[in-house]
Amino acid sequence: DAALDRFGPPAGQQAWVVKDDGLAAGKGVVVSADRAQALDHARECLAKPDGAVVVEEYLDGPEVSLFAITDGHTALPLQPAQDFKRVGDGDTGPNTGGMGAYTPLPWAPEGLVEAIMADVVAPTIAEMARRGTPFVGLLYAGLALTSRGLRVVEFNARFGDPETQAVLSLLESPLGQVLHAAATGRLASIEPLRWRDGAAVIVVLAADGYPGTPVLGGALAGPLLDGRDGDVHLVHAGTRLEGDVLVASGGRVLGAVARGGNLDAARAAAYAAISDLDAPSLFHRRDIAERAAQGLIERPSL
Ligand code: GLY
Repeated sequence: DAALDRFGPPAGQQAWVVKDDGLAAGKGVVVSADRAQALDHARECLAKPDGAVVVEEYLDGPEVSLFAITDGHTALPLQPAQDFKRVGDGDTGPNTGGMGAYTPLPWAPEGLVEAIMADVVAPTIAEMARRGTPFVGLLYAGLALTSRGLRVVEFNARFGDPETQAVLSLLESPLGQVLHAAATGRLASIEPLRWRDGAAVIVVLAADGYPGTPVLGGALAGPLLDGRDGDVHLVHAGTRLEGDVLVASGGRVLGAVARGGNLDAARAAAYAAISDLDAPSLFHRRDIAERAAQGLIERPSL
């Protein structure tokens, strides 16, 4: 009760977030504006053997993924991106590993990357160095830009999928040299990263049934499966050859990655590549980057 009072509405929040503190196959969280429902879920979690519950702040703003390459002391941000975690159009259905992404973020407030670096990445890198465990590699900050300011949702010590495919398709600087500079403690002395103008979009093609049990073995055919066409290419995530037939072998199977002068052009190219594919056992979201391209995402304040 006390935890719900502390974190719940009406003090500027729209809902309670009550989580089972353990693995629950994606079913452990209740996000509800109904206090009784939130309390019931908390009681259910606590009633389990060794039950524990986490009450979290409700995060009401758009999500941002920012990747920073670091040598343990200096951190270099890549372009921010946004990914789409729900399986269905309009952010419906269960969570997935990611159904698409785009970069840059036309709705981002000015100074967003600088603020994330100053408030989140730099203090994290500095604290790890101070503890004698400097972090060298790729720090993935998953953030929400809420009406109450920047919040960290998660850190990963790896590139994010599928944001990386979009971000790296706009990076002109040789990634290998940047990673080598990070590995050898020289990031402070490399030239600023160079980026292509325009935007990039990736749309993920997943096997029917994903994120439940995917239908595997569906045949895949099409012109881009083994090559690139200018600003468009397909990345393989879950494919394999059966004889000389390419088939789906995982939940997320392919990603259509496209660059364009703006998000509209990049989206159009990615979806055109998908329509050229002959892959009847795959599905994809049709609204990746759509709201951003249409200017429908309200610019959050920092
Ligand atoms: N895009 C989410 C992740 O890589 O964890």
